[in-house]
Amino acid sequence: MATSNNAFSPKAPFLWHGGDYNPEQWPREVWQEDFRLMQQTGVTVATVGVFSWVSLQPAEDRFTFEWLDEVLDGLHAHGIKAILATPSAAQPAWMSQQYPDVLKAGESGLRNPHGGRTNYCPNSPDYRRLSGDIARRLAERYGQHPAVILWHISNEYDSWCYCETCAARFREWLQAKYGTLDELNQRWWTAFWSHTYTDWAQIQPPLKGGETLTHGLNVDYFRFMTESQIACYRNERDIIRAITPEVPITTNLMGAYKPLDYRKWAAEMDIVTWDCYPRPNTTPAEIAFMHDTHRGLKDGQPFLLMEQTPSSQNWQAINALKRPGVLRLWSYLAVAHGADSVLYFQWRRGRGGSEKLHGAVVEHSGRSDTRVFREVSQLGAELTHLGDAVLGGRVRAKVGILFDWDNWHALENAIGPVSEKQYYATVSKHYAAFYRQNIAVDVVFPESDLSQYQIVVAPMLYMVKPGLAEKVEGLVANGGSFVTTFLSGIVDETDLAFENGYPGPLSKVLGVHIEEIDALYPGQANSIVMADGSGTFTCGRLADLLHAEGAAVLATYGSDFYAGMPVVTRNAYGSGSAYYLGSDAEPAFLDTFYGGLVKGYGLQAELDAPQGVEVSVRHTARQPVIFVLNHNATPVTVDLGTRHFQSLLTDAALSGELALGAYDVQIMVETI
Ligand code: GLA
Ligand code: ZN
Repeated sequence: MATSNNAFSPKAPFLWHGGDYNPEQWPREVWQEDFRLMQQTGVTVATVGVFSWVSLQPAEDRFTFEWLDEVLDGLHAHGIKAILATPSAAQPAWMSQQYPDVLKAGESGLRNPHGGRTNYCPNSPDYRRLSGDIARRLAERYGQHPAVILWHISNEYDSWCYCETCAARFREWLQAKYGTLDELNQRWWTAFWSHTYTDWAQIQPPLKGGETLTHGLNVDYFRFMTESQIACYRNERDIIRAITPEVPITTNLMGAYKPLDYRKWAAEMDIVTWDCYPRPNTTPAEIAFMHDTHRGLKDGQPFLLMEQTPSSQNWQAINALKRPGVLRLWSYLAVAHGADSVLYFQWRRGRGGSEKLHGAVVEHSGRSDTRVFREVSQLGAELTHLGDAVLGGRVRAKVGILFDWDNWHALENAIGPVSEKQYYATVSKHYAAFYRQNIAVDVVFPESDLSQYQIVVAPMLYMVKPGLAEKVEGLVANGGSFVTTFLSGIVDETDLAFENGYPGPLSKVLGVHIEEIDALYPGQANSIVMADGSGTFTCGRLADLLHAEGAAVLATYGSDFYAGMPVVTRNAYGSGSAYYLGSDAEPAFLDTFYGGLVKGYGLQAELDAPQGVEVSVRHTARQPVIFVLNHNATPVTVDLGTRHFQSLLTDAALSGELALGAYDVQIMVETI
């Protein structure tokens, strides 16, 4: 097979298999056993150095790299590549002791005691200096090491801080953003409750018991905290990049993580990587949505699955085991949606510490005759067989779902009309309607190029940033479809309500005017009565009382004092249409509604598949690779019609009825 040009590292042109490895917690004898067992499981990549700070630098002026020299050489001697982490996610105790400004402050504004992890202030000059220094030493020492294929800076950034240093930097940030206090007061609407600032020094972070109700301040503090933590990443990244420009650099993200705007992070990362920890009851659609979100962060570039548990987690209320086959199924689910790796947390369970009961490839028994070790080894053998066949493959989607972190914060900050806005869950719910029909979706953002899509869906787009409405108008005028829902078009980017009513700048393209918003109690419902008589669906949670101003009414409410008012509208605009869904509809409505839209554009699933069977495609330079994933706990068959395929897992020819066991997977290419 030709070598793929799309590998993240020319030293490792295959799907990476392996995970977090913490040899600093173990004596040397165990390392040899680890290398042997890694080879047995088909592990090709180990992530080392995460949280190793004190093992590398036991005092400010003392460095102990020798053990890491040995580990990297040992991995290399066994043909295993290394993702090398900088240790900056947890500072050593000596640092907090020597430089108390390194410790972060909680919402009360008081600094925390030392302990845990990500317990540092992102604006601490001492933290920046010391984390930059250890990063430089690692890059100088190991940048040319033959095993090193990727830099992993820090770990799961998660360091919101409310200290005095952060408050001072925040004021500077605001001055740069707003210029004058008058402008800030106006954009934050501070005349409300006598909140007007008369001196920059009066502005505090949103401290608990203090100013938490100025929404413009809250959204800006979120933006500032994102930028503060990115600055820590950038500080280390730039030092490393100057020394090893040929080694890509990343940090691991965390999925639907609200406190940091990952779209801004992605712009600073060479590769998006993330840690996938679904709950046992998370649906495949929800997991797929998270993968697609991460693929979307860099506009479709493949990403790395940096962590997942091989068996169970330990930090949820109930940590069920992944059922036999589910590790393999969810690994390929990631790959099908754009991952070029299958990596675990963790290789070997530590004997102490808070993660001693977290799943690992090697359990406390140290045995290799376990179910988990066997499943990992079988997967390892398959991934070796797959080689580079999927690597770099792109997902081609004509549907974009818009997601925005600023919107998430602004929407969920808002007080009324319901306390639980459920933004992420709502976007995920709309995504699931396409997922069930095996229609590929890209997750897009307000500044994404929308012109490549036929359908763009933006649920609960409460905050509409400048320029977005014009882009939507362009999409629709050129024949695209735009769909939005209740609670959209309400505020601008500093969280001020639009002056001419809702849906604000989207009014023109949508051809509707929202007069009032009703909130429904749990268990209370209304209905969506289709105007063409095709059916009635349930809706609830929120109900916009809207007027069509140019739009056609596709459905009306079935009950309450607004029975007969529009709930679903379509506005013809240029050669496309813009739709407004005024209430939270049951999934059956979304299936029908999006089913119709998808059909209208001639979009089709790659294969007809039974319920619970996912069909996804990644397009490599060589060929489209088709993934068939049976998410059911029971066997199924998929009718391949008259087409012929070859399995990339077994090389077998496939035609007629494709049989899949419970949680089984097939990966195949079409043959003529
Ligand atoms: C995260 C971290 C790991 C580990 C796992 C446990 O993803 O990055 O260090 O704590 O969670 O699930
Ligand atoms: Zn701070």
